[in-house]
Amino acid sequence: MRGKDFLTLEEPSPGELQLILGLSKKFKNLRKRLVVKDVLRGRTVGLLFEKPSTRTRVSFQVAVHELGGYSVSLSSNEIQLGRGETIEDTARVLSRYVHAVMARVNAHDEVSRLAAASTVPIINGLSDLYHPVQVLADLLTLTEHKGRLKGLRVAWVGDGNNVCNSWLYGASLTGVDFAAATPPNYAPPSDVVSSAQKIAGSTGGRITLMEDPREAVEGADCVMTDTFVSMGFDQEKEARIKAFLPRYQVNEELMSRAKKDAIFEHCLPAHRGEEVSKGVIDGPNSVVWDQAENRLHTTKALLCFLMLGKAGAASLLRGR
Ligand code: CP
Ligand code: NVA
Repeated sequence: MRGKDFLTLEEPSPGELQLILGLSKKFKNLRKRLVVKDVLRGRTVGLLFEKPSTRTRVSFQVAVHELGGYSVSLSSNEIQLGRGETIEDTARVLSRYVHAVMARVNAHDEVSRLAAASTVPIINGLSDLYHPVQVLADLLTLTEHKGRLKGLRVAWVGDGNNVCNSWLYGASLTGVDFAAATPPNYAPPSDVVSSAQKIAGSTGGRITLMEDPREAVEGADCVMTDTFVSMGFDQEKEARIKAFLPRYQVNEELMSRAKKDAIFEHCLPAHRGEEVSKGVIDGPNSVVWDQAENRLHTTKALLCFLMLGKAGAASLLRGR
């Protein structure tokens, strides 16, 4: 693991990522979720939000609760950060109270500064550039439905955004063949692509970028998309809709080019009639509700990994 923080999904080694996914599966399969009540006993996690959230907020709060810990939810405009206290001072103070912080921020630089100035693990709960906690759930969902990750083809269609960027690392660390089709001005950043390609070189993964969604989806085991207008990009809405529609909508016609049993993933919230048709997201191949549920299980595993260490997480995985 590179450092104490989880900011992009580039940080874990392939083995560490498998450990987190394995522990997620274990937590999910426990018949009584409350059995693990003592895992984080006495520990507190701060949850800091500069943007709205349904899944991230609730899954983190419930995960900490079910592991026997306590969470403090903070909205940036309710704390002094919103009145100009620096990120560094906020990080130093929070580090004296809590054992880890999850932060959803506007600019990625903010979560990086939080990490640099804090002494406890910082988890990126979404920035403009990355959404690593989402991709943990996406990977767990994929492995549940397809029985493996290595060698699967995943097609990303639409905006080369924060979720796509963390997928570049998620795919390269797990040996997935990841094909992203985006309009030319909306491709993922080239530095992220090249560092993901470097990792893929040692895992058997593959990262390819293209413009044609049909090419990306050809023979895919999983097709995924996300909103065309991420939080913070509302002023670009009109231009984005023009650039993405109708070509980049995941609909029945596009899905018919993927494998017959291909699944459809979407991190949610979804916009039916924009990035995805109602028939696809509400259809038989959609796994979006499993994906949303898996946020809870993967968050539990991630918290254990970061707060108890690799050995602690491994012993939980081995335990009864
Ligand atoms: N997928 C996701 O992160 O959802 P929220 O914005 O509701 O947290
Ligand atoms: N790309 C989306 C993800 C929402 C969970 C956004 O940043 O708004």
